[in-house]
Amino acid sequence: MTSANDIATAAALILAGGLVAFPTETVYGLGADATQDHAVAKIYAAKGRPQFNPLIAHVVDVEAAFALGEFSADALKLAARFWPGPLTLVVPRRTDCPVSLLASAGLPSLALRVPAHPIALELLRAVGRPVVAPSANPSGRISPTTAAHVRAGLTPDMILDGGACAVGVESTVVSLLDRPRLLRPGGLARETIESALGFALEDAETGGALHSPGQLESHYAPHAAMRLNAVQAEVGEVYLGFGASGGAHNLSPSGDVVEAAANLFRMLHEIDALKPPRIAVAPIPHSGLGEAINDRLKRAAAPR
Ligand code: TXA
Ligand code: MG
Repeated sequence: MTSANDIATAAALILAGGLVAFPTETVYGLGADATQDHAVAKIYAAKGRPQFNPLIAHVVDVEAAFALGEFSADALKLAARFWPGPLTLVVPRRTDCPVSLLASAGLPSLALRVPAHPIALELLRAVGRPVVAPSANPSGRISPTTAAHVRAGLTPDMILDGGACAVGVESTVVSLLDRPRLLRPGGLARETIESALGFALEDAETGGALHSPGQLESHYAPHAAMRLNAVQAEVGEVYLGFGASGGAHNLSPSGDVVEAAANLFRMLHEIDALKPPRIAVAPIPHSGLGEAINDRLKRAAAPR
């Protein structure tokens, strides 16, 4: 897997402007030194990502985050409660913020996250600078939850292998630029964040200035077409089940949305590799991480 020596090599590659894929608790990230424009640009190029998609800067702890962004009282509360963890906070950039403006895609705001994975934290400590890392997949394709998924889509300078990601969907993105707003559902359930805040999150406005480009319609697309809320497979389809409506591929035989989130991208990869004309997906409940799962499925099924 990953040794202390690998971490040192990876950190040196990042400081030299290279790209290193590394595990987080959500999905694998494609990491670069956030303070080097050229390294950041290489990320967009490697992913074939539209330039207007801003990136998340990963930092080792809350103090490192304070050096980059302005934290409101609500931002402080969420950072203290949920970091390290699968939550990204969008805050105003500090005027002296050293993160490349390219990473913010020209916005006066910055997305920040302290990941919970030990390899990610060791890497961040060794680099000693913020590391921008989008999910380590070509733009618009399924996010990687193993080192093999990364290898199948990208050729970074190095891949740190940390096994399968425990959460399996990307972090929840909350904007704190005005009232706390859910920009992208993800690995931390909306309900959990709302109970910490003591009030409901605003919804992302579609098309507005705060619109999260991760909300692009066709985003997490497998090669196969998709049919959602399918009770059973039709001719030419491979079925992705949930709970009792199961089969060879079942996101969670016991009907647990957290288990389903962890399995989602891996199973979509597995079924996609069978090259079926279409993937039929069982109905998934909308509560807890079900919101993030249904969001990803809706994008994967969007016309393209
Ligand atoms: O779990 C994750 O968040 C993973 C791991 C590697 O940490 N990273 C990830 O990054 O999913 P990425 O680049 O695939 O998604 C970043 C999301 C996008 O939806 C992007 O639009 C949003 O964060 N975002 C980043 N900066 C933003 C900003 N300043 N304002 C609004 N949205 C922003
Ligand atoms: Mg992504």
